[in-house]
Amino acid sequence: MNERASAPTFEELFGRAPEVHATAPGRVNLMGEHTDYNDGYVLPTAIPQRTRVDLARRDDGTAQVWSADVESGPTPSRYVLGEEARGRGFLDYVQGVTRALREQGIVLPGFDARIASEVPVGAGLSSSAALSVALLRALRLAFGLPLDDVRIALLGQRAENDLVGAPVGVMDPMASSLATSGSALFLDTRSLAYEIVPIPAAIELVVIDSGVPHSHATGSYRARRAECARACALLGVASLRDLTLADLDRGAPALPELLLRRARHVLTENARVLAVVAALRSGDIAALPPLFAASHASMRDDFEVSVPAVDRLVALADAEPDVVGARLTGGGFGGAVVILVQRGRGGAVAARVAGAYEASSGVPPRVLVPVA
Ligand code: GLA
Repeated sequence: MNERASAPTFEELFGRAPEVHATAPGRVNLMGEHTDYNDGYVLPTAIPQRTRVDLARRDDGTAQVWSADVESGPTPSRYVLGEEARGRGFLDYVQGVTRALREQGIVLPGFDARIASEVPVGAGLSSSAALSVALLRALRLAFGLPLDDVRIALLGQRAENDLVGAPVGVMDPMASSLATSGSALFLDTRSLAYEIVPIPAAIELVVIDSGVPHSHATGSYRARRAECARACALLGVASLRDLTLADLDRGAPALPELLLRRARHVLTENARVLAVVAALRSGDIAALPPLFAASHASMRDDFEVSVPAVDRLVALADAEPDVVGARLTGGGFGGAVVILVQRGRGGAVAARVAGAYEASSGVPPRVLVPVA
């Protein structure tokens, strides 16, 4: 972990050594955006950046928590377990986890925790899921909690949905809990059935943050969810997963043009996840470029979750001969792009694309993968 040198250690914060530590990664999604809350398919993979939680048990019913990423002083934040309340910044994610556990009948006696994260906030790479999953893993270890990795992911989602109040889907905590780098997690968000699909050795990942933070996105994200729900209501289905493109054509007269485009993105994106999975399984790299191009265009034109800076980053990547495909990844309205590159070329391509982007936009991007 690259922490500032002056950051206090667990011992300095709490006067004793931690009993356990756990980590969890951020994620980048290769295909399947805004499909998870529509019961669809997603295909994330873990990024090298991780969140670490050091933890020791207490028995006085309180949680004392310090985060290297937000705290400036050496004093941990504190709350009484069972009295979780929204509105305390990063602590809401921790409070969300302990409240979600209690709702499942798991009452914790107390703990001290020190959190440090390499996953950038606001880049659409699931820093919040990495925090919830790392904390749940540390709590599982410290207290011997009977939680498997899927249950940890669902508790992480509940923490964010309920206490934090962000209406996110299940992809991010599932990715943080189950994905590894070098492989993609092909997940059916309706059944939670999943499969690990190796990424062919011929390609490597590049992830570049546009520098346009997506933190303002909650309202727009909520609006997209509402639009999908409205399309379902007008078409008389419980979920967009229940429709084929032929159904959508037949139902089109019942839908305003905007909702038709939203639904079309979700349906075509689900099909692209299946096509990318088939291409990865068979090593058919040539099948990937049109799928990535169509996905980005669909997010830009039909779902309208891209922004000009991200479009520019994708166009600069697409102009590189060694690039297999590039698209916005994550919730959108800023954030990062994922680029598939011929193996061995990732560092050079990332440096050229980032340099050209900065020269044309004046905004400094961050190359997150490959790690410098
Ligand atoms: C955010 C949400 C996810 C998912 C993506 C879009 O990352 O947390 O649940 O909806 O946006 O694919």
